[in-house]
Amino acid sequence: MIEGGHPLKGEVNISGAKNAVVAIIPAAILAQDVCRIENIPNISDVSMMIRILYQMGAEIKMINDHTVEIDSTHISSFIVPHELTKQLRASYYLIGALLGRFGRAKVAMPGGCDFGVRPIDQHIKGFQALGAAVSIENAMVDARVEEHRLTGNSIYLDVVSVGATINIMLAAVRARGLTIIENAAKEPHIVDLANFLNSMGADVRGAGTDVIKIRGVEELHGCTYSVIPDQIEAGTYMVAAAATHGDVLIKNVIPKHLESISAKLVECGAQIEEFDDAIRVRMPDRANCCNVKTMPHPGFPTDMQPQMAALLSVARGTSIISESVWDNRFRYVDQLSRMGADIQVNGKVAVIEGVDFLTGAPVRATDLRAGAAMLIAGMMAQGRTEIEDIVHIDRGYELVVEKLTDLGADIRRVRAEEQVGESRVVAGA
Ligand code: EPZ
Repeated sequence: MIEGGHPLKGEVNISGAKNAVVAIIPAAILAQDVCRIENIPNISDVSMMIRILYQMGAEIKMINDHTVEIDSTHISSFIVPHELTKQLRASYYLIGALLGRFGRAKVAMPGGCDFGVRPIDQHIKGFQALGAAVSIENAMVDARVEEHRLTGNSIYLDVVSVGATINIMLAAVRARGLTIIENAAKEPHIVDLANFLNSMGADVRGAGTDVIKIRGVEELHGCTYSVIPDQIEAGTYMVAAAATHGDVLIKNVIPKHLESISAKLVECGAQIEEFDDAIRVRMPDRANCCNVKTMPHPGFPTDMQPQMAALLSVARGTSIISESVWDNRFRYVDQLSRMGADIQVNGKVAVIEGVDFLTGAPVRATDLRAGAAMLIAGMMAQGRTEIEDIVHIDRGYELVVEKLTDLGADIRRVRAEEQVGESRVVAGA
């Protein structure tokens, strides 16, 4: 529940990158040893992934909220049922990791945010190129290879896919010979996974460019590794600072990863100062309109598109957002419209006529980043906004209510079963 109209001011620390950690935890399966992973965010997608490994037989030691030790020596099953995968898109990384370790994986099809069709044909094409036979039956992906070991090959991805790039890397690090992934995704978390794998003794080169070369090794060992900061969490606080006419120092970031977001905010009129591992965002005046086209890294991230739309809904003039990664990532627009935004969606394009102000309303978080957009809209709006289904937000934002409260927002969590009304609300659940 948010009372809008408070500018965000102060400092906020950014947590470890969700989309890196959800690949790094399955990668620990490949080591048959202890991996200590530091700077993990305390969010539900990560606890879910840790729980999946635990249920598969890994020994898990939570050293503190942000450090886990995973000993995957005793994992013996390559089967991961639907109950474990249904809520988490990244559960498909178990296919690559189990194939790499056992030469066999039987993993239920993944869940995750609903942006329309989310095919995994490029993952399958990669596994097949490495010598695996892959079939899908009863919503389980069954991949197997004779003699328990894959063989390196060249794979050209038809679409730039983060998931396929990661999954093929996981499968290939213990394959026989050289694997080359062309037209690979270049997101910061791909580089982070490559660094983690190399810390375990893998030979991965070129991550962060569109050609990744992986020379398979016989075995991998344990390591200690600290995850990079979350580009999207940082970007979300940057947009929130700008949208509320605030002044926020966002700490523990890699400014290079934020360049596409900084550039757009500057176009909107924000003042941005970069430091070694921090970025300061100020927005003295009403935002200017601007056009945004989402692209794979280093383009403007699709995972920042809804948050940017919230900001542009009150900008001066008309903005156009073109979504070029997902077919259906404008489902949150109906929710913004309830708050008075003027947005027309036509296929993968949204035209936003900036209005003078938003007004608080009951809205839903239709998915993770849509939920972040609702938080931003609620903080900008006049009056009270109630966001339902915040479980989506908790999947990807650590201590979001506490971090925003520290920055001066008027926001609290309210128990789902309680009816929201002036006299009946109990805060702090
Ligand atoms: C990752 O999803 C992220 N998830 C998403 O972030 C993010 O939106 C997306 O990359 C794009 O950056 C995780 O890292 C867990 P893709 P992923 O494979 O890997 C098409 C968030 O909010 N495609 O790069 O599933 C696909 O349909 C989440 O944190 C195929 O056609 O995305 C899409 O149009 C949501 N065939 C495009 O490629 C395939 O086999 C990019 O998808 C795979 C993908």
